[in-house]
Amino acid sequence: MNQLDEQERLKHFLTIEGLSRALLTEVLDTAERFSPVGERAVKNVPLLRGKTVVNLFFEPSTRTRTTFELAAKRLSADIINLNIAASATTKGESLTDTLRTLEAMQCDMFVVRHQNSGAAAFIAKKVAPHISVINAGDGRYQHPTQAMLDMFTIRRVKQNFNDLIVAIVGDITHSRVARSEIQALSTLGVAEIRVVGPKTLIPDKIEALGAQVFNDIETGIAGADVVIMLRLQQERMNSPLLPSAQEYFQSYGLTEQRLKLADKNAIVMHPGPINRGIEIDSAVADGPQSVILNQVVHGIAVRMAVMSLVIGAHAAGTN
Ligand code: CP
Repeated sequence: MNQLDEQERLKHFLTIEGLSRALLTEVLDTAERFSPVGERAVKNVPLLRGKTVVNLFFEPSTRTRTTFELAAKRLSADIINLNIAASATTKGESLTDTLRTLEAMQCDMFVVRHQNSGAAAFIAKKVAPHISVINAGDGRYQHPTQAMLDMFTIRRVKQNFNDLIVAIVGDITHSRVARSEIQALSTLGVAEIRVVGPKTLIPDKIEALGAQVFNDIETGIAGADVVIMLRLQQERMNSPLLPSAQEYFQSYGLTEQRLKLADKNAIVMHPGPINRGIEIDSAVADGPQSVILNQVVHGIAVRMAVMSLVIGAHAAGTN
């Protein structure tokens, strides 16, 4: 992909697929520059002053919605959180009409979370040319800013990606985070990407993305530098795929004992929300190797980076 194509692509931020290593590194480097803003007495910079961002969350969220809001505020943008449950959507207004209504208010950016895969790309096709769309998680397809904040967290601790073994453990089939992360890890040159879980929760052909499949956690996390735990995404399962949560924990839960099989300096990550006693033991989630709350904090700087890059790229494209 040449530079021009990439600038066009960055008018929106919808997927990790197809983005170059240079571009992913630019997101991480830009986030690194924004990171100190949160440490200051005055926690904002004027980069997006005068811009209006709308958080359009059709699905529940704590971390993503809040950190996008903080990111927008730290860039001095105006931000509106549309409460879908209290919006005209509940009176039968179509998505297209909701978008037209918000466009008429001179908004500049939509941050979209939706339960349907492909929803953010659909909205990006529908919106007026001056509007940028950021995917904040769509169905089981992509969660690109989560992947980038996870890459930021890994780079902060491990410095580079080349020699790492990264194990992603849990419900891979229903996870948009896993899909985006595998693509980002692969593009950034990670030596070994493993997906670990029961056969019912590992999608067919995942190897084509560059991941090795392990069906038992002991072998899957052996020697790993990074262990990323995922929750069971029951809301996306059409039928029960596991005997019970308790049995799942016995077979796949990350305990202190199991964590000893990973590299002694391994970090434990989780995009959240975590389900204690199902995919992760509290002693690990709150333990010294956990960087779960660091991930949350890094989400602000990474989302500032993505927001500024899409607005910047868009402005460059219209000059
Ligand atoms: N990681 C993540 O997307 O969390 P939320 O659902 O709380 O936004």
